[in-house]
Formats: sequence, C-alpha cells, structure tokens
Amino acid sequence: MVASIALPRFARIGPGALDEIGAVVSTLGVSRPIVVTDQFMVTTGVAERVLGLLRAAGTTPTLFDGTVPDPTTDSLVAGVAAVAAADADAVIGLGGGSPMDTAKALSVLHANGGTMGDYRAPGPYAGPALPIIAIPTTAGSGSEATQFTVITDSATDEKMLCPGLSFLPVATIIDVELTMSMPARLTADTGVDALTHAIEAYVSRKANAFSDGLALTAMRTIAGALRRVYADGSDRDARAAMMIASTQAGMAFSNASVALVHGMSRPIGAHFHVAHGLSNAMLLPAVTRFSVDAAPDRYADCARAMRIVGESASDDVAAHALVAELTQLCLDVEVPTPAVYGVDEATWTGKLEVMAEQALASGSPANNPRIPDAAEIVELYTAIYR
Ligand SMILES: NC(=O)c1ccc[n+]([C@@H]2O[C@H](COP(=O)([O-])OP(=O)(O)OC[C@H]3O[C@@H](n4cnc5c(N)ncnc54)[C@H](O)[C@@H]3O)[C@@H](O)[C@H]2O)c1
Ligand SMILES: [Fe+2]
Repeated sequence: MVASIALPRFARIGPGALDEIGAVVSTLGVSRPIVVTDQFMVTTGVAERVLGLLRAAGTTPTLFDGTVPDPTTDSLVAGVAAVAAADADAVIGLGGGSPMDTAKALSVLHANGGTMGDYRAPGPYAGPALPIIAIPTTAGSGSEATQFTVITDSATDEKMLCPGLSFLPVATIIDVELTMSMPARLTADTGVDALTHAIEAYVSRKANAFSDGLALTAMRTIAGALRRVYADGSDRDARAAMMIASTQAGMAFSNASVALVHGMSRPIGAHFHVAHGLSNAMLLPAVTRFSVDAAPDRYADCARAMRIVGESASDDVAAHALVAELTQLCLDVEVPTPAVYGVDEATWTGKLEVMAEQALASGSPANNPRIPDAAEIVELYTAIYR
C-alpha cells in the first residue's frame, strides 16, 4: 500500500514559541494577516499580544474575534466579510479547534467562494486558499496539523467534515504556555479528544506505518499525562507532554482518518451542544468494546503502548484491558453520561435515527475495524445514554 501523507510545512514547538510568530509570517512573506480567534483570547490579552508581535514584524494585522465554539455556517458570514475588508493574505487561527477550524474555512471561502456544504466529505478540496497558520491553545483538537475543518450547517444542525489539502495549515506554533489557563473540564475533554484521535488513527482501516508511529507515541504520552493535568493544571511538564502528543495525534489521524467514535460523536455535539471532546469521551469505552474483537491485535498494541499491560500479555487480554482502562479513565476524569449531562431522554430517543444516518454519512464509521449498520449505531447510542 502507498500511504498518502500531508503535514504542515514547518512548526515552532516549545515554551515561548508564540514569540516567533513574527519570524513565521516573515518566512511566509505575509504582510496582511488576519488573526481569527474568540472572545476568550481577547479578554486574556493573548490576541493583543499576537497583534503586537505581528506589527513588530512589519505586517499590518487585523482581528476577527467572532468565532463561536463548534463553528457554524452562520458564524462564518461575518468572518468572510472581515477577511475581504482586510484584503488579508493569510489567516492565523488562534485558539482551540473552533478558531482554527474557522480560520481554515475562511481561508477557503475567501479564495474560492461557495458555502461550506460545497466542501463537505468526501471531497477532498485542494484548490485555492489563503495560507493558514495555526496556534492551538488547547491540547486538543490537533487541527493545527490536520487537513480537515469541521463546520456545523446552521440549517440542519449537521456537523460537516470538510477534508482536503487546502485546509492543512502551512505552519503551526505549539506553545504550552497558551494551554496553562485551561480549566480542568476543558483539559479533560480536549485530552480525551487527542487520545481518541491516536487510538482511532491506529485502529483505522486507513492506518499506515507512518501514522502508526505517531499514534502510538501520542497515546503513550497521553496515558501518562492526562490524569496529571486533570488533577493539577499547573503541572507544566505534563501540559507540555499533552501539547506535543495532541499535535502528533492530529498528524496521525489526518493521515489515517478517525473512525466510529468520531462518526457518532459529531451528531451528539451538533444536536445537543456537547463539547466535542466530551461527546467522544461519552462514546469511547462503549465503541471500543463494540469494536475490539474485530482487531484484537491493533487494540492490544494500544494497550501495550499505554502501558496498561506488559509486553508479554496476549492480544486478547491486552485488548480487553484497554476497554477496562478507557472506562476507568473516563470515570477518573468525571465524564458524565448524556443523561447526567442533562440531555432529555425523549429528545435523545427522537434523534437516534437521524444521528445514526448522519454518523454513517460522515464516512468515519467505514474506517472502523467493525463497521456498524444504522441499527447497531442506534443500539450504541441507546446504551451510552445512561
Ligand atoms: N479540524 C480538525 O481536525 C478537528 C479535530 C478535532 C476537533 N475539531 C473541532 O474542534 C472543536 C473543538 O475544539 P476545542 O475542543 O479545542 O475547543 P474550542 O475551540 O471549541 O474551545 C472551547 C472553549 O475553550 C476556551 N478555551 C480555548 N483555549 C483555552 C485556554 N487556553 N484556556 C481557557 N479556555 C480556553 C474557548 O474560548 C472556548 O470557550 C470542535 O468544533 C471540533 O469539531 C476539529
Ligand atoms: Fe476529535
């Protein structure tokens, strides 16, 4: 098999890396960057700091701070106008997955027009786009290193996965200092998202030797660091480890795809406004239990990488130990069920069919070791409710 691999062209990684944003835009010959971010980054002063660094580098930056969590097609309208008004020659996504995904969408809509529905999976889109620079502040979505953006269709509440090389950032800045302000809940949710990226990339039918290495390294690191950052957000070493693992996991799934957890997670996020990492976490143990016997060797490798079992454990023992550990991990970081989260049971039940349809339409379940039909997806949604 020939693997098709795409990665950002360059990166700055390490504490304080944000200070190098000026050098990054200079390298790219950018003169009118637009910083795409959210209100939180404005109130903390990070956005203003970035604008100052960009001015010091001789550019004329502008700011778009209208990103919303889990960006929608409606939320992009003002952003498209802002990019045009600024006559921007690059977009800088500053924040969690939502501002980075917004920046990606604006880059393509500005250069090529249309609406995000035109770019949805299967795509992929590789046409005109403004250069994208991504600066994550969560650890995380991995969006800084992926060839995807995820935008919710405001008309249908469907989370659309939009793939293609044009959505891949050309450069990324990975600075742990930006994540130190994350509260425990966000830390856990984004951390489980990164772990899910690593596991799904590794068990995906599109996994390859290149993505495997990144995925295994990322899951080993996250297994050692996630409980630490949840318990103590000031643990800089664990935060730094999570940050790098999150980018590695992003690189892994961008080149191998995600699978059933993400396929089922997006409809939960879209219909019930559950944070992306949290809806993954609600699903991860049950979906792994559903899938494990279809690829015990692959799941066993995950368990060994995460040091849940020793190297000598049999595949069967290791794979089932993984299910037990993921269940315990989600308990330890206090992941609620949809019921405990407050999702109304009748509304949940009423949406099961459409959620299953949307999960299958995203294409992600087809990459899972065990490919479910709609009825099995409905059963899984029903099982995780309580
Ligand atoms: N494109 C991809 O490859 C990809 C991959 C995974 C997830 N996603 C998408 O990313 C989005 C989720 O991103 P996310 O989980 O990073 O969260 P987010 O960007 O939606 O942010 C969630 C909240 O956290 C706040 N926040 C961000 N950084 C913070 C910090 N350092 N300290 C305190 N608060 C902070 C934000 O202001 C916001 O209120 C979803 O829409 C998901 O679909 C995209
Ligand atoms: Fe994700």
